[in-house]
Amino acid sequence: MPVELNTLRQQLLDVVRRHGAATDPFVATAFGEVPRHLFLPDLPPNQAYEDDAIVTKRDAGGRPISSSSQPTIMAIMLDQLAVRPGHRVLEIGAGTGFNAALLANIVGGRGSVTSVDLDADTVERARENLDAAGCADVVLVAGDGAAGHPDRAPYDRIIATVGVWDLAPAWGEQLVPDGRLVVPLDLHGVQRSVAFVRDGDHWTSQSAMPCGFMRMRGPFAGPERSYGLSETLTLGLPAAQEIDTEAVAAVLAETPVVRGTGSAPSEEEVFDGLGLWLAVREPRCCSISETGQGDVLRDAPLRAPDSVATIGILGDDGVALLSRNGDDLTVLGYGNDTVADELVTHVRDWEDAGRPGTDGLRIDAYPADVPSPGGEIVLEKGECTLVLSMRS
Ligand SMILES: C[S@@+](CC[C@H](N)C(=O)[O-])C[C@H]1O[C@@H](n2cnc3c(N)ncnc32)[C@H](O)[C@@H]1O
Repeated sequence: MPVELNTLRQQLLDVVRRHGAATDPFVATAFGEVPRHLFLPDLPPNQAYEDDAIVTKRDAGGRPISSSSQPTIMAIMLDQLAVRPGHRVLEIGAGTGFNAALLANIVGGRGSVTSVDLDADTVERARENLDAAGCADVVLVAGDGAAGHPDRAPYDRIIATVGVWDLAPAWGEQLVPDGRLVVPLDLHGVQRSVAFVRDGDHWTSQSAMPCGFMRMRGPFAGPERSYGLSETLTLGLPAAQEIDTEAVAAVLAETPVVRGTGSAPSEEEVFDGLGLWLAVREPRCCSISETGQGDVLRDAPLRAPDSVATIGILGDDGVALLSRNGDDLTVLGYGNDTVADELVTHVRDWEDAGRPGTDGLRIDAYPADVPSPGGEIVLEKGECTLVLSMRS
């Protein structure tokens, strides 16, 4: 291996560690040793060692359906998974095969890695990549990851590297009793990577981290939907709804009422804490993103290099969205003052609770055949009920 590739790999590991990931020495060693450029053969090697997600496949409408995930979030999830030499691991979402290779590096010759992907062509390419990287022992399976892969069960660890809306019963059936499950779980439109272990008859979370994965396709796909409001504006909802997109776009073109919230959280607190709070407590929660630096959403609180986004409430006859006035968080009410006042109340409740974030999130997941005890926040899924609490 040329020296410069080793250097690039080490530099990527340094970046990942600066983000607080790869704290597990096994994960750090794997990142230092597994050559990501072999899993992204169409890219110049130096680009393969950027801390970026790289889309490798799109559907007919141009939406990304396979990628190599951002190395930092991969490392965070592997830290959560606590994989050890000798473990038998199942991955849902083989993609390029890079994560499977990291897992193979950790489990070593005494362990095993099985990785499932919905798309046969993706599996074929992952096979080529894994063989090129000397990981011929990784077993790849084309199929729906919701079924797991019973032939090679039981597993000590199961990880999904694709967003899941529900916990598939097969994962529980194929995991050893003291096993660990790590999944990017949908929480009413926002995702958190959650590490679950068993607690008697249900799952309980050990940790949760912010993440944003493309969602699982197939029969187990969730109900989240996005709607184009214009060429640049997209509305995201936790479940499909009859939406008059033209009416929503028209109301957003009006001059909004502006409400102060008395809160001035950082962008990270909005994303990590308030966004989660609103998603799990407000059934009408929505997100709106705009490409570019924001025209309609010019003071949006969430900003990326090529887009901006905000969250709020989509009411029956109005929309309320979080915005900024300098450092201060404001609420813009379009078409209806009541919905703006309701959003202000959510912000104040979150402030009064001490600005809880993902750190203070606990989730208990009760399989469908186990009665849930209920609790502060309950999200019904198809195969399980999630009981959440958020503490500061
Ligand atoms: C973000 S990529 C996974 C990245 C991968 N772990 C890597 O290291 O390159 C998500 C993958 O999940 C796959 N996928 C989507 N729905 C699936 C399903 N129902 N079962 C299995 N795989 C699925 C996609 O085809 C895609 O390749």
